[in-house]
Amino acid sequence: MSIEPQNLQHIAIIMDGNGRWATKKGLPRSFGHKKGAETVREITRAAGEMGVKYLTLYAFSTENWQRDPDEVDALMDLLRQYLKSEMSELQKNGVKIVFIGEREMLPADIVEAMKKLEADTLNNDKMTICIALSYGSRQEIVYAARRIAALAKRGDISPEDVDMKMFSDMLYTKDIPNPDLLIRTSGEQRLSNYLLWQCAYSEFYFSNSLWPDFSRKELEEIIANYNQRERRYGKA
Ligand code: IPE
Ligand code: IPE
Ligand code: MG
Repeated sequence: MSIEPQNLQHIAIIMDGNGRWATKKGLPRSFGHKKGAETVREITRAAGEMGVKYLTLYAFSTENWQRDPDEVDALMDLLRQYLKSEMSELQKNGVKIVFIGEREMLPADIVEAMKKLEADTLNNDKMTICIALSYGSRQEIVYAARRIAALAKRGDISPEDVDMKMFSDMLYTKDIPNPDLLIRTSGEQRLSNYLLWQCAYSEFYFSNSLWPDFSRKELEEIIANYNQRERRYGKA
């Protein structure tokens, strides 16, 4: 029996713990990333089947560029493979794919593959999978502020025109509703520069599972837990 998500349009996930999963098994960290990519497939499929409309996955942060170049290369290779292999399943299931983050930092062939995947799935409307790649929320907020400042400098807007709607529309996530539920695996309880603006009223769930061990069953348990919560938005 599967759980019915209630008032749950958008789940955001910080997929953490790949390295520790591998290290615990005496394997190189890249093996954890490889296993983690399999979990991505299982969870995207499960979320789609459960009727979740938006799934945003933190795949690589702006800070992750500071890791050992070998690990970064291994991650980029996995990403290349993922972008190549997922197309047919995404099309079959009506999944639209979008990317958020600093594309300028990524290798050119990956950026091309991302653009193609976005263009080819543009009209799919069953579910949106948003992949945060080379993503940093503070950077995103600073870019939004810069764009607004430029509009004001040109005289296109005045300071009073700047409101939450305009600000949201300047973020990478402009076409995506705010996450209802944020899940982080691996036991860490922090946001690590993820969706700071967007998670203002999200429900948080911290799982002790390492991402490669995360499963559909656990996702169902978390959704059942979410279904029990009362979201008050500051009201009494
Ligand atoms: C998450 O797993 C994947 C990325 C950040 C790319 P980690 O690589 O952070 O794994 P741990 O946290 O070191 O175990
Ligand atoms: C956050 O995990 C980024 C991703 C999962 C892609 P990190 O492993 O980079 O975060 P910290 O360093 O533990 O805060
Ligand atoms: Mg980590």
